[in-house]
Amino acid sequence: MNKLENKELQEQIEYLLKLETNSPELKSLFNYANTLKQEYRGNKVYFRGLIEISNICAKNCYYCGIRRGNANVSRYELSVEEVIKEAQFALDAGYGSIVIQGGERSDVKFLSKITGLIIKIKALRRSDGLFPNLSLGVTLSLGEQKRYIYGEWYNAGAHRYLLRVESSNREFYGKMHPNDALHSYDTRVQAIRDLKEIGFKTGTGVMIGVPGQTIKDLANDLMFFKEMGVGMVGMGPYIAHSETPMGQWKSLFTNEQKLDLSLKMVAILRVLMPNINIAATTALQVLDTNARERAVLCGANVIMPNVTDILVKGNYNLYEGKPGVDDGAEATKSNLVSNLSAIGVEVGWNEWGD
Ligand code: 5AD
Ligand code: SF4
Repeated sequence: MNKLENKELQEQIEYLLKLETNSPELKSLFNYANTLKQEYRGNKVYFRGLIEISNICAKNCYYCGIRRGNANVSRYELSVEEVIKEAQFALDAGYGSIVIQGGERSDVKFLSKITGLIIKIKALRRSDGLFPNLSLGVTLSLGEQKRYIYGEWYNAGAHRYLLRVESSNREFYGKMHPNDALHSYDTRVQAIRDLKEIGFKTGTGVMIGVPGQTIKDLANDLMFFKEMGVGMVGMGPYIAHSETPMGQWKSLFTNEQKLDLSLKMVAILRVLMPNINIAATTALQVLDTNARERAVLCGANVIMPNVTDILVKGNYNLYEGKPGVDDGAEATKSNLVSNLSAIGVEVGWNEWGD
């Protein structure tokens, strides 16, 4: 795309992001995104069982509740056995894929534990003997790592990786993070490139409604996803956490605006990249119990039900008001399934959904 086309596209995206809630134009955008999704990806949602392996993190992102500087967090790390148990649950539940998510760490013991876990998880089969050729699709979300570590995990059998860019505006990224080598925008973008080059199906994303973020930033974020050619995107509203620096900043967006913008971002992205996987994120649910289903009806096709043990789930609080912390994995599943069937959407059971 040349500069002029880029500018035109950006203006069009900004126009769509500013459409009035409930306006006929916005309704047509949502319907169009839903139609595109059905055409390219089917009328289906894929589940990825989310395992929150550890809330220990070396970083200090200004927005996140489990940042290193938050002394009020009770820190945990799941054992290999606990992770395997949760992965087996996901497989038996028909989820087809899991996501292993955790704070960013670079200690060798943890990194090699992940490698060992991936190998063990890939060897799991359904307890009932059904789908004997199905192994779990393994997605990792463990932050920035050295390229050879990504390579090691890829060779062990993980095939997707999520690393949100958080903001594609370098200057704004600088405001959201401490100004030091551990929180460098360039390293972040390079890590996303490394993941792609290694062969991972790579996902990225941003938070929506961060204090100081502009409509122009959001439009640029969508263009960034397209330029990077990522295969998955997870975007959700920013939700304040009072024990963080950003939690003290004045919010410039109401919850309604954040929800509205999040749905628009999903729909516009589906139009820009009709083929990719787009998540209906858990943070959406904080703003409206039905928000994930609404996102599914305007372009999203992936949901990540939590399969983490309820004993520790409440300690993985990136933001306040995390939904479902008292729900077991079974209850989480049945709630989701009935909500989706109520809106006429199928579930891609026992599939990776690439
Ligand atoms: N609100 C919403 N999302 C958050 N994340 C971290 N803190 C918050 C928050 N306060 C998101 C970041 C990160 C992902 C794992 O969680 O985008 O990449
Ligand atoms: Fe750590 Fe991720 Fe939270 Fe940043 S957003 S503090 S890297 S868990």
